[in-house]
Amino acid sequence: MTLDIEQPALLVGYLREHGHIGPDETPQVQVLAGGVSNRTVLVRRESGEAWVIKQALEKLRVQVDWFSSPARIHREAAGLRWLSRLAPEGTIPDFVFEDHDAHLLGMAAVPQPHANWKTLLMTGDVQADHARQFGALLATIHRRSCDQHDQVAPAFADTSFFETLRLEPYYAYTAGQVPAARAFLRDLMDDTRRQRLALVHGDYSPKNILVYQDRLVLLDHEVIHFGDPAFDLGFSMTHFLSKAHHFPARRTAFAEAARLYWQVYQYDVEVQNFDHALETRAVRHTLACLLARVAGRSPLEYLDAAERDCQQQVVIGLMQRPPQTIPELITNFLEGLQTSCPSFAE
Ligand SMILES: Nc1ncnc2c1ncn2[C@@H]1O[C@H](COP(=O)(O)OP(=O)(O)O)[C@@H](O)[C@H]1O
Ligand SMILES: [Mg+2]
Repeated sequence: MTLDIEQPALLVGYLREHGHIGPDETPQVQVLAGGVSNRTVLVRRESGEAWVIKQALEKLRVQVDWFSSPARIHREAAGLRWLSRLAPEGTIPDFVFEDHDAHLLGMAAVPQPHANWKTLLMTGDVQADHARQFGALLATIHRRSCDQHDQVAPAFADTSFFETLRLEPYYAYTAGQVPAARAFLRDLMDDTRRQRLALVHGDYSPKNILVYQDRLVLLDHEVIHFGDPAFDLGFSMTHFLSKAHHFPARRTAFAEAARLYWQVYQYDVEVQNFDHALETRAVRHTLACLLARVAGRSPLEYLDAAERDCQQQVVIGLMQRPPQTIPELITNFLEGLQTSCPSFAE
């Protein structure tokens, strides 16, 4: 692969050569910042149509050497196509094209003005309706993919990217770092690998949500697979709870958003085999992710050292006798911080 899409002249040449744009067309090209594992470029065509081109990097842009096959972009392309059918209308950008040689895909750009949801949350802008949409969006993906198991499961049977980009860096690495959590994390990894229930996004985080005209749009599907939907719940719940920890002034708002998110999810998912076992696994994944995001390979950048220590201590305590339900977990986590961490009450 020689094409680097971040070089505008090369990208325009490529788009012309492959017939994606007219032979004389000169679109506007803007490199989008921030990606660690991909290049993302906005292309605005003369017609007004706009695409985001995304190309997977083999070597991730992190301090340590970390490699992942760029073929994962094709998993994302398959994710885009399937999610357009499974997720609520308007929540997934349209798929435009993919190229197996250059390891890239094109999708419709979410129009401006839009905001990244994480950016909104970090400024304290916590809106109940966004939490509600976040719950309904995930529930719809889980419910419909479970209902259409026969078609969806074979298309997303490979879990290798989930293994190398999630289970290893989040759970296995953390198990090596924190002996007191080792058995808990290993049991959970075994259990996760046994579940083949629904389409799991694998990166269900506010960072991968754009808010456009007050509607949520979901991005970034490279670790999507058929597996344990409770992983998405734990992974996402961790973002609400860690922000409740970090932002004393917005603590109640984040805790309420977490409760509402779960309530809407639970109501909307309505799948027979998503019984209480799903909730208990969601509790375990939340605890595992709360710990992984302070002691794993990918710590949350906004928690300082004291907050990370404190979160670790509280989570290890809860792992000894995990709460039975998500609402109980939310309450116990926040109470645990209150009693164990002097800085928490600020
Ligand atoms: N379809 C899109 N429309 C508008 N912006 C997008 C689109 N896809 C990606 N982006 C922008 O690029 C950023 C990185 O994209 P993402 O798919 O999350 O890649 P990464 O895997 O590098 O995190 C997003 O946060 C968003 O700002
Ligand atoms: Mg992303």
